[in-house]
Amino acid sequence: MHSQAQTDTIKPTDIWPDNNGNHIQAHGGGIIKVKDDYYWYGEYRSKGLDTNYRFVGCYTSKDLVNWKFITTIKFGKPDSTLTYWVVERPKVYYNERTKKYVMYLHIDGGVRDPVTKKVSGGYSYARVGVAISDGPSGPFTLISSFRPLGHESRDIGQFIDDDGTAYLVFEDRPYGFRIAKLSDDYLTVEKQMSLIPEHMEGGAIVHYGGLYYAIGSSLTGWSPNPNKYATATSLAGPWSDFKDIAPPETNTYGSQSTMLIKVVGSKKTTVIFMGDIWKPKTQWDSRYLWMPLEIGDGKLSLPKPQPWTLNVKTGEAKIVN
Ligand code: GAL
Repeated sequence: MHSQAQTDTIKPTDIWPDNNGNHIQAHGGGIIKVKDDYYWYGEYRSKGLDTNYRFVGCYTSKDLVNWKFITTIKFGKPDSTLTYWVVERPKVYYNERTKKYVMYLHIDGGVRDPVTKKVSGGYSYARVGVAISDGPSGPFTLISSFRPLGHESRDIGQFIDDDGTAYLVFEDRPYGFRIAKLSDDYLTVEKQMSLIPEHMEGGAIVHYGGLYYAIGSSLTGWSPNPNKYATATSLAGPWSDFKDIAPPETNTYGSQSTMLIKVVGSKKTTVIFMGDIWKPKTQWDSRYLWMPLEIGDGKLSLPKPQPWTLNVKTGEAKIVN
């Protein structure tokens, strides 16, 4: 471990060192801003973790570029009937009214044959878990798990609108991509806004220039595919057709969407695509593809990955030539 020098450059696809020089472990993540601090939560997939738990990494930053490791949050098996289980795509919301940090998790699993070790129905549980904490770094207590509004839920995405209203995006395998509003205390999923009848996951939304842009990937597991976007003037739709966010032959430059971050600065508003480059056999080495999007007037495109700088105060993003 060594202390990492400060930088203003994001290098997509590279190792992304935290303040200790370790590659950030926050895959399938989500980011929130509370006052001047950003928090990044994601799947913590280091080598050699205690296999009785699943881990969420928590990092903090003031500039979205330099990240300080805070802690790992561990979750035990959510249900004794599961002999194989996963916790994926954690997303944390801060509730101004209750002052609680509320984490949504994709909780899934199935049965592992004790003899052959083969897992059947590994993603048949299809629920969200909800965990709460008094502070950003925990301790988080899992308080419930359920199928939102009674529907299957696998990949989840987080969206907080400009008016502070919190939404969950979730993939309902039989029907499509659902967007739903959370209850006032964020502890449950209260009301469906849209069902987009497309089989998409890795859902992310941004509200920009009077339009909602929704992004998702197709269902190809850890393998990348051409991610797509649609727009609407209201979260309730109607949604436009889905279009490619990048040349389809690049398979989103090898990445899968997890979130869109809007940085509103003194000079500019920048929207960042936050994606994962998964390495299923060496998950600890999975990389991040963050790039500022070209976005506006109903169009959105992801530039090819290359180093860029971000100034969160002015909101300016610049490609480094
Ligand atoms: C992907 C999904 C990941 C993970 C993976 C497992 O489609 O986005 O979060 O669940 O499948 O194969």
